[in-house]
Amino acid sequence: MSKKTIAIGCDHGGFDYKNAIVKTLETLGYEVSDKGTYSKDSVDYPDFIHPVADDVANAKVACGIIMCGSGNGAAMTANKHKGIRAALCWTKELAELGRLHNNANILSIPVRFVTEETALEMVKAFLATDFEGGRHANRVEKIENV
Ligand code: RB5
Repeated sequence: MSKKTIAIGCDHGGFDYKNAIVKTLETLGYEVSDKGTYSKDSVDYPDFIHPVADDVANAKVACGIIMCGSGNGAAMTANKHKGIRAALCWTKELAELGRLHNNANILSIPVRFVTEETALEMVKAFLATDFEGGRHANRVEKIENV
């Protein structure tokens, strides 16, 4: 994935990890479009995930990173958007596979179940891995056939 802008969003649970991820992304030379949340005050995750998914779906950014406690609410919200393939991942390998096999355009991180170190590893792996295409291309195309 080329060095462009990345959208990021989370609920209160993801606030600390978001700050660490933004810092890492900026150090790596990425621009970050931070959709919030901006504190640890309790919020509803869809309010911060929909803006990320909108930007990815409309090709305003290269990809997205989203977080909530389990990663499920964030992934479910993002995957409601046409063209979004949000991968819920808890290891570096899963983040790589999400790109390799599923051409995932959003990484969903379950912050209560991974360390900050693993979260950062997953982000780097996700950004460094390209879609394999080939036999997976047809399968990914069929995801939207509902
Ligand atoms: C917030 O308490 C929690 O429900 C949220 O972060 C997430 O886990 C939902 O899927």
